[in-house]
Amino acid sequence: MRVKDLIISFMTLSNLLFLVSFTSADTALNTASRKYSLSFDKNNYTIKEITINGQSLKYRAYTGIIYVAKPIDEKYQQINIFVPEIYYEMKKIGNYTLETAPIFLPNTVGGYLPGFPGKPGIDENGNPNAIAAALLKGIIVAAPGVRGRTNKGGSGLNTGKAPACIIDLKAAVRYLRFNDKVIPGDSERIISNGTSAGGAISALLAASGNSTDYESYLREIGAADTRDDIFAASCYCPITNLDNADAAYEWQFNKAINYKKNVISETADGHLQRKEIQDTLTSEQIALSAKLKLLFPFYLNKLNLKTENGTQLSLTQEGEGTFKEYLIGFIIKSAQAELDKGNSNLSSFEWITVKGNKVISINYDRFIAYITRMKTPPAFDGVDLGTGENDLFGTGTLNAQHFTDFGYKNSTVKGKMAEPQIVKLMNPMNYIGTKDAVTAKYWRIRHGTVDRDTSFAIPIILATHLKNTGYMVDFSLSWDRPHSGDYDLDELFEWISGLK
Ligand code: DHB
Repeated sequence: MRVKDLIISFMTLSNLLFLVSFTSADTALNTASRKYSLSFDKNNYTIKEITINGQSLKYRAYTGIIYVAKPIDEKYQQINIFVPEIYYEMKKIGNYTLETAPIFLPNTVGGYLPGFPGKPGIDENGNPNAIAAALLKGIIVAAPGVRGRTNKGGSGLNTGKAPACIIDLKAAVRYLRFNDKVIPGDSERIISNGTSAGGAISALLAASGNSTDYESYLREIGAADTRDDIFAASCYCPITNLDNADAAYEWQFNKAINYKKNVISETADGHLQRKEIQDTLTSEQIALSAKLKLLFPFYLNKLNLKTENGTQLSLTQEGEGTFKEYLIGFIIKSAQAELDKGNSNLSSFEWITVKGNKVISINYDRFIAYITRMKTPPAFDGVDLGTGENDLFGTGTLNAQHFTDFGYKNSTVKGKMAEPQIVKLMNPMNYIGTKDAVTAKYWRIRHGTVDRDTSFAIPIILATHLKNTGYMVDFSLSWDRPHSGDYDLDELFEWISGLK
């Protein structure tokens, strides 16, 4: 794994730390040849305890369980399962019992990189991470590791390119359901969780349950032969809908010709240093932005989205219209929620108009200038095959490929195009409510108002398409949050406890 020139904001900090600490292990060649049993051994656990804010929590830890019969990478195709010990004393937590508690399924994926199975922990402020917080609420946790774009096998071939991450996540769900009788919790109430690329695969898992499109890949790794649909999804700032995200980004940021991003680089003595880079788009990039921006209304209008009261969401060729108003409405709602919490600092933002205790309007252009552009066009399918997403769509032998017509046609490096079917497998929009898939009934999607890793249109389109197709969606923009997740765990678990 090369850490040079890696964009920091490309992933959440915790994932970055993971990446740094596992850099050398990551290069190990580790293709498995053993065949594993898919039966869960309920006696193979250790009892652990953590103390959170003075409250101690004892739990059973079943760790390092390989969840497929024929793993390609044993280091990642593992799941950790954690169960509050109190359940074994025949006690309840709230209304939950050992059998009826929901199962929280968080992934640790960032940057479409490999993610190790998570474990309970405490952050620098002494607060529980999502896994510990779930256990405190009596929720069973099943934390799978999944392969990612930088994994390599024994022969030096890439083993974690798309669609590996979603195949592994589905295989982990199948393992839980296959062992439903012996694994605590209710496998009909699996709630997936993830942030950024992890939020994207959380959405994809929830959208595409049981779709036969993934079947041959699941067979190949010896996934349990059962269903992989889930009950609910929590998605923080999902970096999803990659094939339309470039156009959406330029529709939002076309006027922002300066950009700001954090890069991490290696110093001569091998340390990592973080630096903010500020620059201006080149004339070539400005020309690409102008072309990409024009593609967005075509895509958006084809979706035939509607507001809750039936108003058609559309855009003119110039990119104006009801969809833009609708998007601005979410920013206003977020500001209003902040004002209602008693945050009086809103008046310091010159682009917000507040009268009394009501947010009246925002000046969209000034708001976009305030948050600033982060990525250069095309934001995802780089013309030089230089992005993490290009890397995601590589193959066993090719490190990176294009995945949009635009990227392919404008390639400066004669890049190859990914198989259209593989691009299809990575986008939840292709599966929501389709005949071939069972889409999760409940969704919670959050995206920060100062997140610049993808455009606001991407989570808004996801949430709106889900709602329009009949799913229950709790969506909002989180005030002043940058690209991050798990920041409102009390609300997340309250939402989970209210699901029927
Ligand atoms: C992530 C961030 C990005 O900007 C991106 O393009 C892909 C993934 C992440 O944080 O996971």
